[in-house]
Amino acid sequence: MILYTPIKFRNLELKNRWVMSPMCMYSSEEGVATDFHYVHYGSRAQGGTGLIMVEATGVVPEGRISPKDMGIWNGEQAAALKKIVKFVHQNSESKIGIQLAHAGRKASTWNGKQLPLQEGWETVAPSKIPYAESERIPHELSIEEIKELVQSFKASAARALDAGFDVIEIHAAHGYLIHQFLSPLSNVRTDEYGGTFENRIRFLVEIVEAVNELLNENHPLFVRISGTEYAENGWDIDESVQLAEVLKNKKVDLIDVSSGGNIHGAKINLFDGYQVPLAAQIKSETRIPTGAVGLIKSAEFAEEILQKGQADLIFVAREILRNPYLAVENSFKGEADCFFPHQYDRAKI
Ligand SMILES: Cc1cc2nc3c(=O)[nH]c(=O)nc-3n(C[C@H](O)[C@H](O)[C@H](O)COP(=O)(O)O)c2cc1C
Repeated sequence: MILYTPIKFRNLELKNRWVMSPMCMYSSEEGVATDFHYVHYGSRAQGGTGLIMVEATGVVPEGRISPKDMGIWNGEQAAALKKIVKFVHQNSESKIGIQLAHAGRKASTWNGKQLPLQEGWETVAPSKIPYAESERIPHELSIEEIKELVQSFKASAARALDAGFDVIEIHAAHGYLIHQFLSPLSNVRTDEYGGTFENRIRFLVEIVEAVNELLNENHPLFVRISGTEYAENGWDIDESVQLAEVLKNKKVDLIDVSSGGNIHGAKINLFDGYQVPLAAQIKSETRIPTGAVGLIKSAEFAEEILQKGQADLIFVAREILRNPYLAVENSFKGEADCFFPHQYDRAKI
């Protein structure tokens, strides 16, 4: 089974193709990971997951989706994450990455609803266009503020590397700040960060270049994008392919292909593996490795995606919440080799 064969990004080897997809747990205190996170991520490591991707983590306080999001804009936050990374490295064969994020106009919420200003904060965006009509108009970022944010991503990546993370993933999907720049529907700027395709991708490209200055051969860089935003004249698969080509040349190691999130009320046709064709097209047209995600619940289906060459990694979100032992449990069925804690030897099938 390809699913249980190792794969290398730069010099970093993942033992298998299962990835715990990044998932906000809305359980941090002032952006600091808690004991909950220690057990939550630690148990997926014990389950044999090839790569664990820590949830969307704010690079600045205003970049959080909610006040309970994880953050990595200070040393205390990095220290709490370091404890998790150390556990994973010392007690499993998993590698661990972190998704660096800024929510832009979709920040300052609770349970999917924008918080009143007294409980939240003013949001920022490329243009003065709110996500939903009922929401406050975001502050339009100045060029100076955009440049500062590029540096915030870089500083956060530096803290993540100090904490021992193996992989950095930039969150450019789901209608958050970077995606807001990519889309002509949320970015109507007339300066060098808006208008043409080259201008709309500039913010992401500058972040990738800044972060890559810190990364050596042992630390790959992934980017999560929305392959389409399901809207007429919006960000689509053709621009995603074009972007992937640019990112490949900027030493991005994998495109993690999700979709949607930028257009309020957009209709998404959900079915098992609904985003796999997007990952497949990006991979086949650019030859950059891709990650497939979205309603992939079984090892058989994951294996089929890999066999067909549609993706190189399988990101799993809800199924791995239901079953932290997803990777190792399926390895027993397929008689494949997978990490299982030696303390659990007597439970091996
Ligand atoms: C509780 C929860 C939190 C999520 N948080 C994030 C996140 O922090 N970053 C991200 O890119 N996607 C996030 N997602 C999306 C998942 O990573 C994944 O792309 C999506 O759930 C589809 O995969 P699935 O069908 O395996 O659940 C989240 C999903 C869930 C269920």
